[in-house]
Amino acid sequence: MYIENILADVHEAVTPLIGQGTVADYIPGLASVNPNQFGMAVAMNNGAVYGVGDWRVPFSTQSITKVFALVLELARDGEKIWQRVGREPSGSGFHSMAELEKSKGIPRNPFVNSGALVVTDALLSVTDGDPDAVLNFLRAENSDPDIHVDEDVAASEALHGDRNAAIAHLLASYGNLVHPVQDVLTAYFRQCAIAMDCRDLAAAGAFLARAGLRSDGSRMLTASQNKRVNSVMLTSGMYDAAGDFAFQVGLPGKSGVGGGILAVVPGRCTVCVWSPGLNASGNSLVGVRALDEFTTRTGWSVF
Ligand code: DON
Repeated sequence: MYIENILADVHEAVTPLIGQGTVADYIPGLASVNPNQFGMAVAMNNGAVYGVGDWRVPFSTQSITKVFALVLELARDGEKIWQRVGREPSGSGFHSMAELEKSKGIPRNPFVNSGALVVTDALLSVTDGDPDAVLNFLRAENSDPDIHVDEDVAASEALHGDRNAAIAHLLASYGNLVHPVQDVLTAYFRQCAIAMDCRDLAAAGAFLARAGLRSDGSRMLTASQNKRVNSVMLTSGMYDAAGDFAFQVGLPGKSGVGGGILAVVPGRCTVCVWSPGLNASGNSLVGVRALDEFTTRTGWSVF
C-alpha cells in the first residue's frame, strides 16, 4: 500500500467538500483564515512522513496542544494529575462549566477547557512557571525553532477569554489551581495560539503511535501512560462528538477550533489533517471526512 496514493485518493474524495463548515469566528485571527484549504500528513512509525495539499501551511493548533500539555505533565509528574482531573467523556461542549460545580471542581477529563486549565496549572509547577513549556517541547521535537506562538491570536484569546477566566476562577474556588488564575490563563492561551503545520504536528506526536517511544528510541511516556493518553483521546478528544468520531473514524483523535485534528493509529502512524471549516461540534468538517476516508481505505482503525 502506497501512502502517497492513499493521500491523493483521500484528497480527491474530500475536494468537493472543502470550504464547507464554519470557520471559528470568536477572534479575528481565526475568523480571517481562508476556508478553502486542506492539508493532511501521515508520519509512519519508520520515520517517513507523507503529505498532501496544504500540509506545510501553519495553522492555529488550538486544543490539539492540550494533548502535548498532558503528555509533558505525565512525563514529568507521573500519575498525580489524575487526582485533579477525571477521564470520563463530558457529553458537553469544550467550554462547558455545567459539570464542574457538581463535581466540586474536578473536571471530567483533561481535554475540556476546565481539565486543560488544571493540566496547564500542574505543568507550571514542574516547569518553574514557564508559560511556553509546550512550545519549547514542540520546537525541540521537530528541531524547528520557527514553530511559534501567534502573538495576535494569543492576545485575542485573552481579550475574549471571559469564559475561560470564569472556568479558571471556579477551579480556583474549589482549590484545584495552585497558581494565580492570570498565570494559568496566560500559559493556556499561549499554548492554544501555537502555529504549526500538519507535517510537524504528525511528527511531534509520533511517539503516540510507538507506545511512547520517540523516533530516536528515547522514551517520552511509559507504554502504560501512552495507552492512557490514546484512550482519553478516543473517549474525549472530540468533545461531545467523540462517539460520532469513533463511529466514523475509529481512532484516538484530538481536534482544535483552528480546524486541525491529530489522530493516532497505534503501532503504525500518526495522521494530522487540517481544513478550517468546522461542523456543529467545533471539529473540522472536512478533517473528519478525510480521516473517515483514510481509515476506510487503509483498514487502519483500532476497531
Ligand atoms: O479555549 C478556547 O476557547 C480556545 N482557545 C481553544 C478551544 C479549542 O480549540 C477547542 N476545540 N475544539
